Amino acid sequence: MARKAKMVLDKEFSIAPIDNRIYGSFIEHLGRAVYDGIYQPGHPLSNADGFRTDVIDLVKELNVPIVRYPGGNFVSNFFWEDSVGPVEERPHRLDLAWKSLEKNEVGLGEFHKWAKAANSDVMLAINLGTRGVADACNLLEYCNHPSGTKYSDLRIKHGRKDPYNIKTWCLGNEMDGPWQIGSKTADEYGKLANETAKAMKLIDPSIQFVVCGSSNRSMPTYAIWEDTVLSHTYDNVDYLSLHTYYGNRSGDSNDFLAKSDDMDAFIKEIIATCDYVKAKKRSKKTINLSFDEWNVWYHSNAADNDITENHPWQVAPPMLEDIYNFEDALLVGLMLIVLLRHADRVKVACLAQLINVIAPIMTDAKGGGSWRQTIFYPFMHASTYGRGTALLPVITSTRHDTASFGDVTDVESVAVYNEEKEEVTIFAVNRNLKEDVVLTTDVRSFEGYHVVEHIVLENEDLKAENSFGNEKVKPETVNQTTMEDGILTSMLHKASWNVIRLAK
Ligand code: AHR
Repeated sequence: MARKAKMVLDKEFSIAPIDNRIYGSFIEHLGRAVYDGIYQPGHPLSNADGFRTDVIDLVKELNVPIVRYPGGNFVSNFFWEDSVGPVEERPHRLDLAWKSLEKNEVGLGEFHKWAKAANSDVMLAINLGTRGVADACNLLEYCNHPSGTKYSDLRIKHGRKDPYNIKTWCLGNEMDGPWQIGSKTADEYGKLANETAKAMKLIDPSIQFVVCGSSNRSMPTYAIWEDTVLSHTYDNVDYLSLHTYYGNRSGDSNDFLAKSDDMDAFIKEIIATCDYVKAKKRSKKTINLSFDEWNVWYHSNAADNDITENHPWQVAPPMLEDIYNFEDALLVGLMLIVLLRHADRVKVACLAQLINVIAPIMTDAKGGGSWRQTIFYPFMHASTYGRGTALLPVITSTRHDTASFGDVTDVESVAVYNEEKEEVTIFAVNRNLKEDVVLTTDVRSFEGYHVVEHIVLENEDLKAENSFGNEKVKPETVNQTTMEDGILTSMLHKASWNVIRLAK
């Protein structure tokens, strides 16, 4: 029997309007993300500020509305004062998180300039590892206060008259992780995060806060951490962070592609925990989620251990340079579908990261140009066509067995309705590695709509990779969707990412 999936979409049944910030990303002072990534003075493609224009163009293709900065683990021993003022006076520092040397040639002002050139806002993380309330307040005063105070006047002296007006602030990073510089218990962190947010809001009441959730779903204090931290901070914060990275360490691709189900369960559990604290507090306020680190990450682990253990304190060593293959792109597509399905609670998400470090965009290490990894494409499609309202997909699908997740759906899908542009886009992955699936979608409520195109990312070889000058994995437009009487029939090839676009 042919494999089948069936979906009903109705313009009246929505999950929520999508917050564009779910297409955010992340740049950390790590490896070649900043130096030799966004910034490479002397490169033929760099502008007068030393920023790679080819990289900026690729970031614009991805249409990234917000970028988290400067870490990550890096931020937990970051001294922001070292990163501002005349570059020649900035100190060189040991980056303890990644055992690298930080020359502070790019700092707050330069990064803000870069982000604006890439059409992005900055989501700034503060150091709650080795620093505390006063330093965070000073940084906020430097960034957002107009003038007439020590730090706002320092910013003006540094050549920036207008405040940066940073709106979204992360209260530290992965503070439950034993690897984190200055890690804390949930009580210690919850108290510090609350006092910091409270004081910062006195300076600028318009800002929003992301408080650290668990570093991942396997942490020993998982969920208890969230409960304790939110119990301290509930009234002063807006979002709780989630982080997850997946890998195919066992070489079982069938199982690997089921890992988006883990992400789905993770989000559901965190929503339940947030709402449990809401109930305890009899609060009217709802805490939303910031999934501010998500991706595939495992290919480069061994090489990175060699660098930190045997070759420490380099400037911009080639770390976390995962080269992604086709199956990684499928999982990234599946993870995007999960995020969109939770558009009612996930308001910020950051693909970790953006350039060279577990990234969709790479620059050639030998000084050549830049190139798109396999995972670039599902992210670009979702960010381009996934703006509007996430529709509630009433979906059934044939299933297949996996080693760790039992039987899972062949097809995962979500649709986005852009009312303004009168467009509907269906994102669907057939994660069955052996068989094609016919997807029928009832779109009768979208009267007068027609099929614009069906874009597919597929490859015979799940391990196919892209490299500089050689894109083996790239999307194609196919004739695999027809429409009759408001019913779409789409052929979803085995192991494929599909974007089916309709317009009026
Ligand atoms: O993104 C790489 C690292 O992963 C980040 O620095 C840290 O927050 C996480 O563990």
